[in-house]
Amino acid sequence: MAKIIVSELEPDMVLANDVRDRNGRFLLGKGVKLTPKHLKIMKMWGIVDIDIEGISQTDMDRKRTAHMAPAILDIADKLTRKRFVHTDLRQEAIRELFNICALRKAEQLTNGARPAGTDESRDSSANSDQNSLTEDTAVYMDPRDLIKKNYIKLPSLSPIFNQINEAISNPRSSATQVANIISKDSGLSARLLKIVNSAFYNFPSKIDTISRAVAIIGTKQLSTLALGTCVTSSFKDIPSNIIDMRSFWEHSIACGIIARIISSYKNNTNTERFFLAGLIHDVGRLIIFKYLPAQAKEALLRARKTNSLLCKTEEEIIGFNHALMGGMLLKEWKLPVILENTIRQHHAPKACQTSLEPAIIHLADIITNALGRGTSGERFVPPLDVKAWEDIGLSTGILSATIKQADRHIAETVHIFFPDEQ
Ligand SMILES: [Fe+2]
Ligand SMILES: [Fe+2]
Repeated sequence: MAKIIVSELEPDMVLANDVRDRNGRFLLGKGVKLTPKHLKIMKMWGIVDIDIEGISQTDMDRKRTAHMAPAILDIADKLTRKRFVHTDLRQEAIRELFNICALRKAEQLTNGARPAGTDESRDSSANSDQNSLTEDTAVYMDPRDLIKKNYIKLPSLSPIFNQINEAISNPRSSATQVANIISKDSGLSARLLKIVNSAFYNFPSKIDTISRAVAIIGTKQLSTLALGTCVTSSFKDIPSNIIDMRSFWEHSIACGIIARIISSYKNNTNTERFFLAGLIHDVGRLIIFKYLPAQAKEALLRARKTNSLLCKTEEEIIGFNHALMGGMLLKEWKLPVILENTIRQHHAPKACQTSLEPAIIHLADIITNALGRGTSGERFVPPLDVKAWEDIGLSTGILSATIKQADRHIAETVHIFFPDEQ
C-alpha cells in the first residue's frame, strides 16, 4: 500500500497503520477514523504521509486528474518524459517525482498558462549566436593549470565575507561580534532583514535589527545566510547570451529552499547551511561561463543537439565539469571543507560518506530541475544516485510535501535577492 501525503487526507479516512512522530513516539492507532482535528494536529506534528485503508496515492492522483482531458494528460506525460529521459523511472522516488511533475504540467496546460518561474522557454542559453561557434572549441584543460596560469582568476569576495567566514569558524566569536560585522554593510543588513522577515520564517513579529535577527535565528544561521548573499552579489558580469542570470539564481535559490526543507525532515538544526549549499551548488558554472565562454557555449549547444546532460558535455569539451570548478572556488574562498565537498560532489554524492549534505543537495538539484524552476543551463533531470536516496532515508511522500512547501517561498525569496529585475 502506498502512503497518502497529509495535505491530501480527508476526514473519515481510516488509518491502516499506527501513526508515529519523527522520533518514533506513538500518536494515533491503526483503525482510527480521521477527524478535521486529527488532520490539523498531524500537520502540526510534522507528519508527512500515512497509510490509509483501501486507498493508495495512485487513487488520489487519479481523483485529481479525473476532470482533465485525456489528450492533455497525454501531452503532459510526453513533455515530462522528455525531461526525465536521463533518469531511471523504475526507481520509486523518480517515479513519484515524475508523477508529480506530469500532473503539474497537465494542470498548467489545462489552465492554459505557464505559471511564473517555469521552465523550457527560459532555456535560452547559448541560443542567440549559435553561428559564431566554431566546431572545435574542445580543449582538455586542467582547472588547476588554468588558475595557476591566471587564465581563470577566481573572484575574490568582499572583506566582510572573510570576516563573517572567520567568525563562523571561530567558536569563541560572540553574537554581538557577528552582528557588528554584518551591520557594517547596510545593503547586506537590509537584504538579510528582508529574508528573515519573509513568510518562510513566519516569525510572529517583525525583526528590525541585525542583533535581534542574530538572537532569534542564531549566529551560525544568520552568518551562513550572509555568506550566501555576498556570493550572489559577486557575479555580475556574466555574458547574457550564455545564461539568463535571473533564471540561474532562481534555480539556485529553489535548490537552496528545497535542500533546507529536506534537511528539516532529518531534524537538522542549522538548516541555513543547506540553503547556502543549494544556493551556491552550481557556482562553478558561472566561472566557466565567464572565463571560458566559447567552450561554455559549445557545451550548451552540444548538450542541446545530442540531448545529453550538460555536466557530461562539459567534461567532453572542457575536460572537467562545473562541480569540480565550484569545489575549487570554495577552497579558494576558504569555506568549510564539508561545503567544498558538497559542491564538488553534488552530481556524484556517493563519493562522500561523512555527511548527508552532498546527498541532500544532489536530491534538491534533481527536484529543482524536475520542476523547471529556473535553469543553470541543464535541460534535463539529472539521474538520481540510488545510494544517496537510501542514505537520506525518507519516504517518497516527502517529495510532494517538499514541493508544495517550496512553491510558496521560491518566488518571494528570488524577489528579495533580485528586487529590481522583472
Ligand atoms: Fe550542478
Ligand atoms: Fe543545479
